[in-house]
Amino acid sequence: MSSLAAVLRFTPPEAFLPFAEAERQKPPLSMQTFQRLREFIYQLSGLFIADTQRYFLKVRLLRRMEELRIATFEEYFAFITDATPQAAQERRALLDSIVVVETQFFRTPEHFFVLGRQILPELAPKRERIRLWSAGCATGEEAYTMAMVVHRDFLPLYPQVSVEILGTDLSSEAIARAQRGRYLPPSLRGMPEEYREYVRESFGEYEVIPEIRSLVRFELLNLVDEQALCGVEPVDVLFCRNVLLYLAPEVRRRVVEALVDRLLPGGYFIVGATETLSQMTERLRLVHFPQALAYWKPAKAS
Ligand SMILES: C[S@@+](CC[C@H](N)C(=O)[O-])C[C@H]1O[C@@H](n2cnc3c(N)ncnc32)[C@H](O)[C@@H]1O
Repeated sequence: MSSLAAVLRFTPPEAFLPFAEAERQKPPLSMQTFQRLREFIYQLSGLFIADTQRYFLKVRLLRRMEELRIATFEEYFAFITDATPQAAQERRALLDSIVVVETQFFRTPEHFFVLGRQILPELAPKRERIRLWSAGCATGEEAYTMAMVVHRDFLPLYPQVSVEILGTDLSSEAIARAQRGRYLPPSLRGMPEEYREYVRESFGEYEVIPEIRSLVRFELLNLVDEQALCGVEPVDVLFCRNVLLYLAPEVRRRVVEALVDRLLPGGYFIVGATETLSQMTERLRLVHFPQALAYWKPAKAS
């Protein structure tokens, strides 16, 4: 028996009473209000909240309600669906509180090696300017990793090419942290030694150095907002990794098509290691690089 199971088995039932009492005192989240809230969140962001995530949503929203001194979920729903500027601000805070922003530098490093060793050198002879986009960049590590690879592995060989990197996310809190460019040690756990020169330690945090920061720009952008997406200048390489899986299936397909619209012919689209774009679009071809997979937009595609 595991030690946790043993502790639970020999804990007298009355020991759990304070927790049960605390739970009873919290306002209830009825099935009806849960469904209205999740439909509203879905309309706002495309995020899919399963029936099994009712408790998760309750805990996250309770924190928001405590901060706003709102007593019931019904009142909270009325507040966020209002047309006031405060409601708009709270809708952003609500999304900040439920998105999963977990990421790190060099997450799935093979994608970055393929970027630096195959994709960029292939594009370089055809372009004076190359644009990269980390869509759903969370706190910015993915976009900064692109910049480190560009700076160390690509620009010394192709100094005539100018490179711009865009990082976007739905979460305003995540974007603010990305712009700050300071990270705690766990974010750097996968960073190969040779790229360590791109961060400087200061007071227990690691700050991305200015040469890398100057290659990257961060913006707030909701991928289900088609009008906002149309405003993104088309890119040569798009990383949208570990983002689509949080969206409802029917939204995923729409977002993928809109993203392919923002990809230049001859450009590459990379998704997370456990994700696929098959069955989502007919406009990309799967390419097997030695270290990782990528999707390519044929030069004559629309
Ligand atoms: C798990 S993180 C992935 C971060 C990074 N791409 C990586 O693979 O390490 C998922 C990110 O997707 C963002 N996201 C979810 N729905 C989004 C939407 N509709 N528009 C833009 N970003 C979204 C979340 O805010 C979160 O930061």
